[in-house]
Amino acid sequence: MEKKRFYITTPIYYPSDKLHIGHTYCTVATDAMARYKRLAGYDVMFLTGTDEHGQKIEDKAREAGISPQQFVDNIVRGDRGILDLWKLMNISNDRFIRTTDDYHVSAIQKIFKKLHDNGDIYKGTYKGKYCKPCESFWTESQLVDGKCPDCGREVQDAEEEAYFFRLSKYADRIQHLLEDTDFLEPRSRVNEMVNNFIKPGLEDLCVSRTSFTWGIPVDFDPGHVVYVWVDALFNYTTALGFLNEKYDDYEKFWPADVHFVGKEIVRFHSIIWPAMLMSMEMPLPKKVFGHGWLLLDGGKMSKSKGNVVDPYILAEMFGVDALRFFLLRTFPFGSDGSFSNEALIQTINVDLANDLGNLLSRTVSMVGKYFGGQLPEHQAEDPERDGELVALASSLRDRYEEQMERFAFQNALAEIFKVIGRANKYIDENAPWVLAKDMEANGPRLARVMYNLLEALRISAILLTPFIPASANQVLRQTGADGSCSTWDSAAAWGTLPKTVTVQRGANLFPRIDAEKALKELEEASQAAKKAALPDLETEPQLTEKVDFDTFCKSDFRAVKVKDCQPVKKSEKLLKFTLDDGTGTDRQILSGIAKWYKPEDLIGKTLMAIVNLPPRKMMGQESNGMLISAVHTEKGEECLNLLILDDKIPAGAKMC
Ligand code: MSP
Repeated sequence: MEKKRFYITTPIYYPSDKLHIGHTYCTVATDAMARYKRLAGYDVMFLTGTDEHGQKIEDKAREAGISPQQFVDNIVRGDRGILDLWKLMNISNDRFIRTTDDYHVSAIQKIFKKLHDNGDIYKGTYKGKYCKPCESFWTESQLVDGKCPDCGREVQDAEEEAYFFRLSKYADRIQHLLEDTDFLEPRSRVNEMVNNFIKPGLEDLCVSRTSFTWGIPVDFDPGHVVYVWVDALFNYTTALGFLNEKYDDYEKFWPADVHFVGKEIVRFHSIIWPAMLMSMEMPLPKKVFGHGWLLLDGGKMSKSKGNVVDPYILAEMFGVDALRFFLLRTFPFGSDGSFSNEALIQTINVDLANDLGNLLSRTVSMVGKYFGGQLPEHQAEDPERDGELVALASSLRDRYEEQMERFAFQNALAEIFKVIGRANKYIDENAPWVLAKDMEANGPRLARVMYNLLEALRISAILLTPFIPASANQVLRQTGADGSCSTWDSAAAWGTLPKTVTVQRGANLFPRIDAEKALKELEEASQAAKKAALPDLETEPQLTEKVDFDTFCKSDFRAVKVKDCQPVKKSEKLLKFTLDDGTGTDRQILSGIAKWYKPEDLIGKTLMAIVNLPPRKMMGQESNGMLISAVHTEKGEECLNLLILDDKIPAGAKMC
């Protein structure tokens, strides 16, 4: 029988900065869903990728002094880039699209032409506001307090010749789609879209730009590039082979079963995207799910606020599975949640170390201790003592499935942890250590108790594989659950494990974390990462204000020879110089360079000083002039280098 298909996508990420834990959240959720569907027997297509065009990227590349393509290549393919991150996080995407890929570029040109030829794209003049970070156009009335309604940042005036898409034409159909079907979830997002965007009147959308070039050129009108969101949204179809030869899965997988997207891009996915598909007469995706944001200190994570959390640091410190687990166990997928390292550590310690980790290690070690690692034939089930655990674990898969189908990851995991909690209680109720005192009388009952625990663990571990793939497989291995005991079907079949199963003692999967120590290490690691991310070398920008020549000539720069140099009492910064300035009278200058020089190393050197500054008192001593240094910043730290002149230059020589 042919397998049922399931096509799921993440948004394609802007490679304008390194990704943070908020981006990781969405990709991990999509990965869990894709793995769950594969486990349940579906033929899955899981797509993610990068959205590489637009003014923001062009600007950033210019700032970095490299081409936009080099810039995005670094962030996508470079060390600790996006591809590395998904590999580290064990993301099982089937495909990865980059919107700079040739096949996508030519497909978008064909799509744009088609929309134009069918009359839904026309030429006009765009006048309005533009939010560069969001790559969004706004009308004056849509702004909130004069700022971008999505991100709250400043917008800029924009006026240029542009193509427009007849979004207004589709308003009624979109309203019906949102209000009368389950296209957009959670339901609360429907009201937001209808009240904020559709009811006030959908305006046509500007879909080309002429003021920058880093985009897909409109091939029938050079000078225009396709608006980045049109380019980006169609990735979901071009990555399957729509209007290109690179892939041929479009017929097989389109329409998508679900697009997972963050709440701020729901508008693009639930209004603009279906309207463009309607215009193209293509089937609509079955669902868009707008998940919440991970917040930090109550606000959005953003580089400009300096509060982004590095998933590399967290995964390396706590483990990939622990991080994946935390993200989906802690926050309801449809709402916002507050990220904190304390909560992360607490979840690892309570759920993974205490509940799951302990259940596994106690069970496997007891089977080792009492039965040498292999269970003997056990007694029949005792409904009174075993019934509750057996019933809860046997029905777990159904309850889990119900929650997973609703993308309620937190609830699905809560169901699993009810079974794990019940199993831990079952150990205490049945006190295997007491039964073990009389093996002759209690051996078969003890074997039954152990078997029930292994079964509860096996079923839980199968259903945990979408969330913590590597660790769940370790649990299965340790409980002796081989291939046929770890399938989706077997997760609903209590008693699948062979009666005389052999367990494999293994490593402690989730060691308890010392919160205080871990938080300190985390702080150190993030400080080190911040420092490493600073530019190696920075110099101050040149002044743009001009100074006229006569004014410049009023500064008297002279060569001075160091006769003596001493530290200044109670000052870590200052050195006191006695200088021969060629006048025959010693000159005293204090200079804040003690951090970089030993006084004795400077005696006899010829330096450069400005000698006609008014005298200044520093630490109670007079300074007559200033020694000239070159200044730059290295890894965030200021460095000063005195200008040391050739010894041949006599003291008092004028610099000009
Ligand atoms: N390039 C567009 C998407 C185009 S899809 C056709 C984009 N990229 S993005 O890199 O800015 O964001 C990608 C996704 O990450 C979005 O769904 C966004 O909501 C999500 N997140 C970014 N920060 C987030 C949090 N702090 N928390 C949860 N998700 C977050 O938008």
